[in-house]
Amino acid sequence: MRTHLYLVLPLNAFFAHAQWDASRYLVFNTAASGLSSSLPIGNGRVAAAVYGTATERITLNENSVWSGPWQDRGNANSQGALSSIRQKLINGDLSSAGQQTLDTMAGNPTSPRQYQPTVDMAIDFGHNGTLGNYTRVLDTLQGTAITSYTLGGVDYTREYVASYPAGVLAFRMTASQSRKLNVKVSLNRTKAVASNTASSSDGVHAITLKSNGGIEFAAEARVVSDGGSISVDGQAISVQGATAVDIFFDAETAYRYPGSIAREAALKEKLDNAVKVGYPAVKSAAVKDAQGILSRVHLNLGSSGSAGRQPVPKRLSNFKKNATADSELVTLYFNYGRHLLLASSRDTGNRSLPANLQGMWNDNYDPPWQSKYTININTEMNYWHALTTNLDETHKPLFDLIDIARTRGNAMAKKMYGCNQGFVLHHNTDLWGDAAPVDKGTPYTVWPMGGAWLSQHAMEHYRFTQDKDFLRTRAWPVLKEAAEFYYCYLFMYNGSYVTGPSLSPENTFVVPSNMRTAGKTEGVDIAPSIDNQLLWELFNNIIDAAAVLGINGTEVSKAKDYLSKIKAPQVGSKGQILEWRNEYQEAEAPHRHFSHLFGLFPGSQMTPIKSEKLAAASKVSLDNRIRAGSGSTGWSRVWAMNLYARLLDGASVWSNGITFLQTYPLDNLWNSGENRWFQIDGNFGFTAAIAEMLLQSHEVVHILPALPKTALPSGSVEGLVARGGFVVDVEWRGGEMARAMVTARSGGELRIVVEGGIAFMVDGEVYDGPIQTTVGKRYTITKAS
Ligand SMILES: *[C@@H]1O[C@H](CO)[C@@H](O)[C@H](O)[C@H]1NC(C)=O
Ligand SMILES: *[C@@H]1O[C@H](CO)[C@@H](O)[C@H](O)[C@H]1NC(C)=O
Ligand SMILES: *[C@@H]1O[C@H](CO)[C@@H](O)[C@H](O)[C@H]1NC(C)=O
Ligand SMILES: *[C@@H]1O[C@H](CO)[C@@H](O)[C@H](O)[C@H]1NC(C)=O
Ligand SMILES: *[C@@H]1O[C@H](CO)[C@@H](O)[C@H](O)[C@H]1NC(C)=O
Ligand SMILES: *[C@@H]1O[C@H](CO)[C@@H](O)[C@H](O)[C@H]1NC(C)=O
Ligand SMILES: *[C@@H]1O[C@H](CO)[C@@H](O)[C@H](O)[C@H]1NC(C)=O
Repeated sequence: MRTHLYLVLPLNAFFAHAQWDASRYLVFNTAASGLSSSLPIGNGRVAAAVYGTATERITLNENSVWSGPWQDRGNANSQGALSSIRQKLINGDLSSAGQQTLDTMAGNPTSPRQYQPTVDMAIDFGHNGTLGNYTRVLDTLQGTAITSYTLGGVDYTREYVASYPAGVLAFRMTASQSRKLNVKVSLNRTKAVASNTASSSDGVHAITLKSNGGIEFAAEARVVSDGGSISVDGQAISVQGATAVDIFFDAETAYRYPGSIAREAALKEKLDNAVKVGYPAVKSAAVKDAQGILSRVHLNLGSSGSAGRQPVPKRLSNFKKNATADSELVTLYFNYGRHLLLASSRDTGNRSLPANLQGMWNDNYDPPWQSKYTININTEMNYWHALTTNLDETHKPLFDLIDIARTRGNAMAKKMYGCNQGFVLHHNTDLWGDAAPVDKGTPYTVWPMGGAWLSQHAMEHYRFTQDKDFLRTRAWPVLKEAAEFYYCYLFMYNGSYVTGPSLSPENTFVVPSNMRTAGKTEGVDIAPSIDNQLLWELFNNIIDAAAVLGINGTEVSKAKDYLSKIKAPQVGSKGQILEWRNEYQEAEAPHRHFSHLFGLFPGSQMTPIKSEKLAAASKVSLDNRIRAGSGSTGWSRVWAMNLYARLLDGASVWSNGITFLQTYPLDNLWNSGENRWFQIDGNFGFTAAIAEMLLQSHEVVHILPALPKTALPSGSVEGLVARGGFVVDVEWRGGEMARAMVTARSGGELRIVVEGGIAFMVDGEVYDGPIQTTVGKRYTITKAS
């Protein structure tokens, strides 16, 4: 029955086991006390947060269970007010421009839909004593979890698997002695329950819960027992005297199956299939799939020895006292970020959905920030490591959502801005691709750049995968329509094409005395720096994509023309990158966003390799903001790590990484934001930053660009991916590259830099310029002797 050797080992024996790996497992010696100490697994569409409590609690989510149907929130007054608002901005009346922007352009209602819990599962074992030898483990390589304990001389284990191939979740509970297992399985939901029934007929034992509020769904748990008697017990299924019990779970929603008949048929088919093949086969296919993908990258930052052989909460508290003792916590956090993305973002067929603010894990009907898609940094950050850490299949849901949002954005471009071409998104969206402005405040609401930022991911997907089919059929329409909106929307001001009314995400400045209500804080202006940087990236992407696709027409000449008329980043009196069109006084020096540094990361306009001057100015801005206390939420701190990586400053990546790990992880290593609320972006951005520290690839494949030599003198990584489709393995010792291997997945020209520019050899010959690579060939890089 048992598939792990070490399933029921006591905790101390568990840690001593030969297979123990402190960079792979999250281990606990207590049950979860809330969602933020639960163990998260998922198959890209359905997720579980496992508590491991005496009466098991599992919070179950399906990623399209949101609060309601599509709503058109666009403000019909917007278009008529646009020229008047622009005139005010041009005249220098920022105060009335800001007010009129809110009055005429905010959406109605102001919020899109919110993400909702699906159901909770309870599994009552009648275990009310003290659970001995209690161990709860998440395996970040297989994407599975277990709970094990001893009670009354019997060892009990529970395994939890999320299967991408089968499209279901599967749990197995076992007892070490035959017929010692009693379980009572039920589902619950406090809102909009149409029915919640247990049934038992023709050998099928199920609890089925149907919801009729928000997005309708049907959820079902199938119970299969080995031995014992099984029966309906009210709304539950009870099993008495079994040796093993399996539960299969799925939920299907109106988002993908508008009609209940098709929806319930899909649910039945998946569960029937899973029950038919049985738990061991479902599990082995799930593990093969997840491990096959997650094992592509292997990071080794050294062993923590006994410091890593501790439950996670203890490792976190020890790390606060002495970070150097547990470098494997860094590796674990890196690995966890890859597990969490694979679990929450997969190509699950029609209308797959990307990871939201909480990935997929949510037990709250009123989650922080609606757990939606915040596209002025957070959703994008969720995908920063998708390509660099070799998880390109996790990217697809993002493009599915962009396609849905594109249609909404076409309508919104017309309604709000009178543009009959292209699409616009503001700073949030939901599963319907909501394109209207969100909330009501001058520093965040009216920012017409969400589509430009998302379109960057489409081009980057091509750069890393070299998939021309993707570029033609999926990326090009997004890039083209993103640009078409700006060809209509931008206006000429003082010799440049500018945005306005717009803002620098969530930040404010002090209105100068000659621009109306002096001393008041404002957000709305013309052409904030990030907008120019996003447009620079977009028009360059159009030019690059067209060159690959052999497109040669007005699309290209227009992009070139606009590119030449976008204002370059400006350097201010302190040597910093200006965040706004003028050197306004910042209202909040430690602000958490680094919007004006978009061009350093994730963009590439201000990187040292492109412009030493802009990189130096970026450093001034970044240092100043961090010194003032920025990095004040998890995602902000990891953005700083990525920015320092692009400045080739490994020591600062590392010190910010340590501050992050000492401050933001919750008990189960989820990142937290304000009020210690779970927000998954920081998990993902952290993983991205570690990759960015070891490999960068805009313009050239840069090996060990930002190694923290003192903190990490030796280590290795295998399987990181560079633009051009180059897979890179690196080993370093004494703070220097020992050897690297570059595999060319797609052939093409390979330009390499090592450690900022030391001499090196490729296959034994001194490197003196770009190499024409052969598909599938491996190139060995060593230091020049
Ligand atoms: C604990 O469980 C046992 C067996 O299920 C039962 O006899 C006993 O009354 C329970 N005790 C409490 C305190 O619930
Ligand atoms: C823990 O497990 C060991 C080995 O299976 C067993 O001897 C011991 O009794 C268990 N402890 C408790 C508290 O149940
Ligand atoms: C299930 O019931 C518990 C206890 O009443 C409640 O806290 C939880 O929110 C319910 N789950 C759902 C999905 O509504
Ligand atoms: C995808 O789902 C939508 C909504 O349920 C449906 O209208 C559409 O036909 C589906 N498309 C495909 C290709 O199955
Ligand atoms: C921190 O841990 C490292 C590695 O175990 C050790 O060398 C160092 O002395 C410790 N520092 C402190 C302040 O305890
Ligand atoms: C217009 O642009 C010029 C040169 O780029 C600059 O010096 C001037 O300050 C700008 N004027 C306004 C009103 O922004
Ligand atoms: C693009 O078209 C122009 C004029 O039709 C032609 O001169 C030029 O060579 C073409 N460029 C490419 C890259 O095909």
